[in-house]
Amino acid sequence: MTKTIIAALSVALGLGLSMSAGAAETTLAAKHGPMFPKETAWAVKDQCLKCHQSYEVLGQRTANLVPNPHINHLGAVNCTECHKADKPSRQPELMCNECHNFKIVKKAAK
Ligand code: HEC
Ligand code: HEC
Ligand code: HEC
Repeated sequence: MTKTIIAALSVALGLGLSMSAGAAETTLAAKHGPMFPKETAWAVKDQCLKCHQSYEVLGQRTANLVPNPHINHLGAVNCTECHKADKPSRQPELMCNECHNFKIVKKAAK
């Protein structure tokens, strides 16, 4: 089992590196390959977090974004509310905008 996960991780990483040069159309599912959890599977969020650790860790990775999509009053919602399997991996849909009207902006570098 551990071997499978490590193999899948390196596949995902390899794809990530080779496609980062302007492959805007790569879907989130394609980017992850066979290890991507099925949308309908039970507790999808927990499956994502097996590799992506926690909302705290993700929040640190997007700390330069306002509002921070991973730290907010909704708490730990399902990742796929925003990250759609069939959409480009770098363009999540901001479900916050069911109620708000946010545009995510990058903080200016200090
Ligand atoms: C088997 C491990 C694994 C699972 C399960 C997994 N991921 Fe990933 N994911 C990775 C790796 C490895 C990367 C590339 C390195 C990174 O950005 O962390 C990645 C990258 C990403 C990225 C950045 C994409 C980009 O183009 O830079 C997003 C968004 C993402 N994952 C969301 C999810 C979501 C949502 C789920 C659950 C539906 C999920 N991941 C499940 C391993 C996984
Ligand atoms: C409210 C919407 C939302 C939710 C829910 C959400 N994300 Fe994100 N996520 C974003 C946005 C927006 C970005 C920044 C996209 C970009 O600019 O590439 C992002 C970026 C990422 C990245 C790339 C971070 C980097 O280093 O650039 C990963 C990995 C990721 N999300 C994983 C997840 C996982 C796993 C979950 C569930 C535990 C999750 N996200 C839940 C909106 C969301
Ligand atoms: C179901 C509706 C709903 C959703 C979805 C929602 N919010 Fe909110 N949010 C509210 C309400 C209600 C308030 C409090 C009223 C106000 O101050 O506008 C609020 C307040 C806020 C505030 C402080 C006030 C402000 O506008 O600056 C922030 C920041 C915020 N939300 C971020 C988010 C983020 C980020 C998401 C997505 C991850 C999100 N919200 C999703 C309803 C929602």
